Amino acid sequence: MHLHETVFLQKPRIDSRSEDGLRPEQFIGNIEFEGVDFIYESRPELKVLDQVSLKTEVGKTIALVGPSGSGKSTICHLLLRLYDCTAGRVTVDGHDIRDVNVKWLRQQIGVVSQEPVLFDGSISDNIRLGREGATQADIEEAAKMANAHNFIRRFREKYNTLVGQHGTQMSGGQKQRIAIARALISNPRILLLDEATSALDSESEAVVRDALEKACKGRTTIVVAHRLSTVRKADVIHCLSQGRLIESGSHDELMAREGLYYNLVTNQTEVDLHPC
Ligand SMILES: Nc1ncnc2c1ncn2[C@@H]1O[C@H](COP(=O)(O)OP(=O)(O)O)[C@@H](O)[C@H]1O
Ligand SMILES: [Mg+2]
Repeated sequence: MHLHETVFLQKPRIDSRSEDGLRPEQFIGNIEFEGVDFIYESRPELKVLDQVSLKTEVGKTIALVGPSGSGKSTICHLLLRLYDCTAGRVTVDGHDIRDVNVKWLRQQIGVVSQEPVLFDGSISDNIRLGREGATQADIEEAAKMANAHNFIRRFREKYNTLVGQHGTQMSGGQKQRIAIARALISNPRILLLDEATSALDSESEAVVRDALEKACKGRTTIVVAHRLSTVRKADVIHCLSQGRLIESGSHDELMAREGLYYNLVTNQTEVDLHPC
């Protein structure tokens, strides 16, 4: 292959600082995946997503379940436009996300993932990262929503307590609640929870799960979880296997079908579902 062909075939990278694209004034938070295929350029032989179609409605929670490697996180990454799909399209409120301003899009989505990333700085600084210019009152309000205000108040330095490497030792559950406060402070229309409680012990999990259940109210939520107990209440559960959507429905519907979901639930040991 000639050099100019290589350049021609390479897709432009997504520029997160671009000022281009739509910034819809009214944003409701409807998401739709239409016949989405995805292949990583570094692994052309593997179709990571194969004709995935799904949609969410405002105020509703959808769950993605399936074995490790089935493509759940990839769906989250496409919605955040860390990558663009290979075929099909992803829309928000009917706009193809490739036509929407990337920064704007990401501002509408609160993300909580498995490992909370906190930097060396105060609790306030870490929460403020979710919205430039947030006031102390905004920060405390977000912390309250995330069930974090009470434990923060008990630290001697309160919101000025340092976290991260050189700061106070906090439990995984406390760090995760700070991450949730950071995700909520921009009042995002969409909440993306990718294994948000997976690394926690069951006691921390309960309090974080409670915070997340409050946080979902009035937002479009996508929750990825391998502990199936956390997805039971979702309005629609989508089961993936090897990048394909195998079945969708409520917990009761899917249990009655006795298919993949039923098998995941009845065979569940954490090890089966999440070998890594
Ligand atoms: N950056 C990457 N480059 C190449 N392959 C990847 C990359 N990230 C994930 N994959 C592959 O894509 C598939 C789906 O991964 P992922 O969406 O992370 O699954 P899940 O979240 O369901 O565990 C897996 O086979 C995984 O190995
Ligand atoms: Mg994942």
